[in-house]
Amino acid sequence: MSGPISSAWVPTEPIAARGKRHPVLDSIRHSPIATVVSDPNQPDNPLIAVNRAFLDLTGYDAVDIIGRNCRFLRGADTDTAQTEKLRRAISEQKPTLAELVNYRKDGTKFRNAVMLAPLFDADGRIEFFIGSQVEIPRADDSIAAIRQQQAVDLVGTLSPRQREILQLMAQGYRTKQIAYMLTLSEKTVQMHRMLLFRKLSTSNAADAVRIAVEAGL
Ligand SMILES: Cc1cc2nc3c(=O)[nH]c(=O)nc-3n(C[C@H](O)[C@H](O)[C@H](O)COP(=O)(O)O)c2cc1C
Repeated sequence: MSGPISSAWVPTEPIAARGKRHPVLDSIRHSPIATVVSDPNQPDNPLIAVNRAFLDLTGYDAVDIIGRNCRFLRGADTDTAQTEKLRRAISEQKPTLAELVNYRKDGTKFRNAVMLAPLFDADGRIEFFIGSQVEIPRADDSIAAIRQQQAVDLVGTLSPRQREILQLMAQGYRTKQIAYMLTLSEKTVQMHRMLLFRKLSTSNAADAVRIAVEAGL
């Protein structure tokens, strides 16, 4: 990762204009993993926030891409079946993982293991999608498998309750909704979230959700 952390957070007008805040929008800036947030309530589901790691991975400046659908990363060699997988997950508002060829701004290709997950608002309506991108080096096909095994191992360290909470987070539910669904207090859910972040060695929800999706939770 390069550049100061403070330049990693790229808020845009629509959020400010609609007075929207969501912890995930702040938390992605602290992630070492390339991460984006899109707004499916705007036409064509544009990116509304990206972090420094995403700019470093793709070579784009934030001004080039905020407001655009993330399909600009696609190109001639992108596997249409994988794109279809992403399209379906978006329309079904479900988390998914896909691996496809993407292109940086300078036209070079990279293999991208993309994770997508929905985030619902307090009324259960889709509010955002989080996406995170991990480059799979061409020379080493097993990286994705290793990451998946690591994710399975990490999730294996969680208590059944923590696993349940992580699974609901990956499905897009907020703390309040999770508390309601599991008949727990919000405080208890928050405590479990904190503990599970620690066990997963992460400090933010986007990375924890990626681990959950990689582990197939
Ligand atoms: C949050 C988010 C992140 C995404 N990240 C990527 C990505 O890194 N690479 C990619 O090829 N597509 C990505 N997509 C998928 C494309 O934006 C697009 O939805 C998909 O290619 C389906 O294309 P279509 O809308 O043209 O059918 C992402 C979508 C969302 C909502």
